[in-house]
Amino acid sequence: MEIVNIDVAIVGAGGAGLRAAIALVEADPTLRIALISKVYPMRSHTCAAEGGAAGVIKADDSFDLHFDDTVGGGDWLSDQDCVEYFVQEAPKELTQLEHWGCPWNREADGSVAVRPFGGMKKQRTWFAADKSGFHILHTLFQTTLQYPTISRFDEYYALDLLVDEGRCQGLTAMEMRSGMIKQFHAKAVIIAGGGAGRMFPFSTNGAIKTGDGMAMAYRAGVPLKDMEFVQYHPTGLPNTGSLLTEACRGEGGVLVNKNGRRYLQDYGMGPETPLGQPQLKTMELGPRDRVSQAYWHELQKGNTVSTQWGECVMLDMRHLGEKHINERLPLVRELAIAYLGVDIVKDPVPIRPVVHYMMGGISTNLKAATPLPGLFAAGECACVSLNGANRLGSNSLVELLVFGKSAALSAIEHIEGLPQPSAKALETRAEESQARIRALFSRTDGTESMSGLRKEMMDTMEKNAGIYRAEAGLQEAVDKIAELRQRYQKVVLNDKSNVFNTDLFQVLELGSMLECAQALTVGALARKESRGAHQRLDYVQRDDTNYLRHSMVYYQGLAAPQVDYLDVVITRSPPGVRDYSGEHK
Ligand code: FUM
Repeated sequence: MEIVNIDVAIVGAGGAGLRAAIALVEADPTLRIALISKVYPMRSHTCAAEGGAAGVIKADDSFDLHFDDTVGGGDWLSDQDCVEYFVQEAPKELTQLEHWGCPWNREADGSVAVRPFGGMKKQRTWFAADKSGFHILHTLFQTTLQYPTISRFDEYYALDLLVDEGRCQGLTAMEMRSGMIKQFHAKAVIIAGGGAGRMFPFSTNGAIKTGDGMAMAYRAGVPLKDMEFVQYHPTGLPNTGSLLTEACRGEGGVLVNKNGRRYLQDYGMGPETPLGQPQLKTMELGPRDRVSQAYWHELQKGNTVSTQWGECVMLDMRHLGEKHINERLPLVRELAIAYLGVDIVKDPVPIRPVVHYMMGGISTNLKAATPLPGLFAAGECACVSLNGANRLGSNSLVELLVFGKSAALSAIEHIEGLPQPSAKALETRAEESQARIRALFSRTDGTESMSGLRKEMMDTMEKNAGIYRAEAGLQEAVDKIAELRQRYQKVVLNDKSNVFNTDLFQVLELGSMLECAQALTVGALARKESRGAHQRLDYVQRDDTNYLRHSMVYYQGLAAPQVDYLDVVITRSPPGVRDYSGEHK
C-alpha cells in the first residue's frame, strides 16, 4: 500500500473541509495538507444550500438576539458556550467570505442585504439570490486553489481511521478510479464529510450524503451525539425531495391547506399577516420543526391536498410578482418548472416536509476536537452542540465556516512537536482496513443484495423515525436495523472490477448508513420525551429533569450500541417556553 506522509488530512471538501484547509495554510504555509473527497469539491453538498447564512449585521440586531433565537430554536439542547462563540464569529466569517469574493446580495445603499428566515426574530440571513451554497462553495474552492501545499485527492473514498497509541494518526482511502488503497499518515485528521440524510428515502440530500465520516469516527470509538434529532425541512418538492428554500417564505410566500387556509395560525404561529405585506408575524417563519409538525397534523385532519405526487400543502408565492421572484428566487422557479411543471409566478406549488439535516453527529467540543486525540470534526458530520434539538435555517452554512476554522486551529495546536507517524506502527491497522475490502471481493457465501437491504433500511426509517415517533415503531426500527446489520455481513458485491466500482462504493455507503441508523434509532428509543425535532406521541412533553442532556452513542461492533448522556452547557438561558407568536421585525 502506498503511503502518503502529510501533516493534516481533511476528509471532505465541502464548505467545512475547504474552510479548514484555508485556515491551516494561512496559519502555517509550510504544513502539508491532504484534502480527500469522494467527489470533486464543487460537487459537495454545500453547493445545494440555497437560502443563506446567518450573522448579525443590522443595527437593530445583536449577538444576544441571535443567541436567544438559536438556543430557543434548539429547544435548549444547544451548548450555550458554543452558541455564544458562534454568534460572535459568524459576521467575521461572512465578511471574510466577502473579501474572498462571495457575491452577497446588496441593499440599494450598497450594504449587505439580509432576509428573514425561520425562527430568527430579526433579519440576519446573508444571501446570494437562492444560490448561496453554490457561491460560498465556489468562493472557498477558488481560494484554496492559490495554495500549493493543499494537495487534493478528489474521488477518494475514505475507509478507516488509523489509530495508534490512543491517537488518530491518519486514515486509509481508496482511489475510486483505480481501486488502489492508500495510507495517509497524518499527525491530525479533520473529518468534514457531511450528514447522513440518505438513510431516509425522501431527502433534500445529495446521494453522497451517506454518513461515511460519522461512521468512520464511530467505529474508531468516538461517540455519536444527539443522533435522534433529524430535521425535516417543511418545503420539499413532493416527487424529487429537492429543496425549495425557506427563503420562499422569508420573501413572503405562504403555506395553505386544501381549504386555502394559512393553517400555521392554528399551531401557535399566528396571527395571520396580510398578503403582500412584509412578513411581520411568525407564521411561515416559524422554526422548521414546528412548521413540519404542523403539516403532519394537517395530514391527520385530512386537510392536505391530494396530488399526483401524494399528499401535499401548497406554497403560494404569486403575490411576490415575477420581478421579485426572478431576482430573489430564480432557482426555486427553475426547479418547480423543471420537476413539477409549475411556474410559481402563476400557480401555488405543492410541497411536503423532507429530511434535510442531522442535528447530531460526531461528538466534538467547542474547539472541534473529538474525544480521540488527533481527530477533529466540523460541519454537518459533527455535533458541536450548536443546533440542539432543532437547527435554525441559515445557521449551518456559518457553522461550517466557524468550526471548520476552529478544527484547523485546534489541529495545529495538537500537532505541535509531534513526530511523523511511524509507518510500522500503523501497518497492522491499515492491513485490517484493506482486508475488510478484500473480504467483500472474495465473499462466496453472499446472499443479500445491497439495494434490497438499503430499501428495507429506508422504509424502516421513514415509517418509524419520522416527524412523529412512538415506542412500538422505534423498537421495530431498532430491531430491524440490528437485523439488517447482521444481514449486511452477507451482502453480495456483484461488480468485482477495480475501476470506478460504484457497486463497491454503494455497499460501503450502505454499511455507513446502517451504523448511523442504528445510533439514531437507539438514541431515539431511549429519549422518552418530546424536544425539537424529536417528537414522541407517547411522551409529548419536554422533560428537562431527565433529558436536558445530550445522548452519546458508542459503537459496539455488531452488538447493540451503548447509550450514555452528557450534560448540556447552560451559561445564561435556563430552559423556557418557545414562543413563536411574536413579531418579526
Ligand atoms: O431553506 C434553505 O435555504 C435551507 C437553509 C439551511 O438549511 O440552512
